[in-house]
Amino acid sequence: MKSPVTRALFDEIILPVYAPAQFIPVKGRGSRVWDQNGEEYIDFAGGIAVNALGHCHPKLIEALQTQSEKIWHVSNVFTNEPALILAQKLIDNTFADRVFFANSGAEANEAAFKLVRHYAIEKYSPYKTKIIAFYQSFHGRTLFTVSVGGQAKYSDGFGPKPADIIHVPFNDLDAVKAVIDDHTCAVVLEPVQGEGGLTSATPQFLSGLRELCDQFNALLVFDEVQCGMGRTGSLFTYQQYGITPDILTSAKALGGGFPISAMLTTHEVASVMHPGVHGTTYGGNPLACAVGSAAFDIINSPEVLAGINHRRSIFIEELEKINAKFNIFREYRGKGLLLGAELHTPWHGKARDFLNSATENKVMILNAGPNVLRFTPSLIISDVDIREGMARFSKAVEKVVIN
Ligand SMILES: Cc1ncc(COP(=O)(O)O)c(C=O)c1O
Repeated sequence: MKSPVTRALFDEIILPVYAPAQFIPVKGRGSRVWDQNGEEYIDFAGGIAVNALGHCHPKLIEALQTQSEKIWHVSNVFTNEPALILAQKLIDNTFADRVFFANSGAEANEAAFKLVRHYAIEKYSPYKTKIIAFYQSFHGRTLFTVSVGGQAKYSDGFGPKPADIIHVPFNDLDAVKAVIDDHTCAVVLEPVQGEGGLTSATPQFLSGLRELCDQFNALLVFDEVQCGMGRTGSLFTYQQYGITPDILTSAKALGGGFPISAMLTTHEVASVMHPGVHGTTYGGNPLACAVGSAAFDIINSPEVLAGINHRRSIFIEELEKINAKFNIFREYRGKGLLLGAELHTPWHGKARDFLNSATENKVMILNAGPNVLRFTPSLIISDVDIREGMARFSKAVEKVVIN
């Protein structure tokens, strides 16, 4: 092993599909992170909406340590207690009757997309395979999920895609009406588009989609990989809209930093599945489920959920102060702590410059496309950390604006 481990080593040995920041984080506590040189950062990125309880939450450490001394892995040839406990919690707190565990958002969505096709084929017709999805959506990086995702930059260049997937503009019910028919098996969307720029579905759009799906015997699938598990202020975002999907996918915050995902559905939809139709070696891994279970209890508490919009308002108050000085933001987007700040037109295309400057000023933020800055911090970040991080971010903005 080359020593010391440097950022330059990344450029030599890792597949060049990422462009990570120049520092290497080595320690995290709450919303603070330290790099190899002991420099301290405030984390508004939360591992892309994953670290919902910050870094190294004591209850998650306890759950991981306790489970690590019991059993690590059994595969799905055997079941395990943590998986059943977490599945029961998800069922008790949502519309769902059945849970399928996987390891990443893409895998949960892959399972969902296979399920909608299989359900329609088994119940109705081998020709009922059309999936309606939306531009700017993001559902993961497998070939099926990039194909359902509505962004050519992720889906093109890999040869033939799965067929019978059609994209229409988000929040445009008439566009859906124009393409939905008896051959449609599902409509798939993120209630708040994450990677695509933090656009929230309108209530009319979601209720219209529910009606259309019912009319054409199509399933409604909500990808809540990014917007679920407390992120927008309720356990899942659909609960705020009062529109219930047939299938919901969750990942990211579900494990609080430990890789796990889940696909939730009803008895009726699950009825077409039987042993051997789908599967995964690691899905429902005891370590992941034990941590997920501990994270679930904390995230799903009234204190944590009630605090999310309070924190959003502090973020917006601080962003407004920055905007009063530099006039760079056009609007605030998203819900709860899935917060986007769209840049004014002259700054379009420059989101990455703000991100890099933020890192130099010791605050970690994200972008969602080239025009929107994204903040997905811990759901329990302290007011002090928000205000200090924003003071650092203000300096970062000043540097970009002055240059
Ligand atoms: C809405 C949504 N779906 C799916 C995914 C894919 O999740 P993963 O990267 O864990 O496969 C993401 C990741 O950003 C996402 O935001």
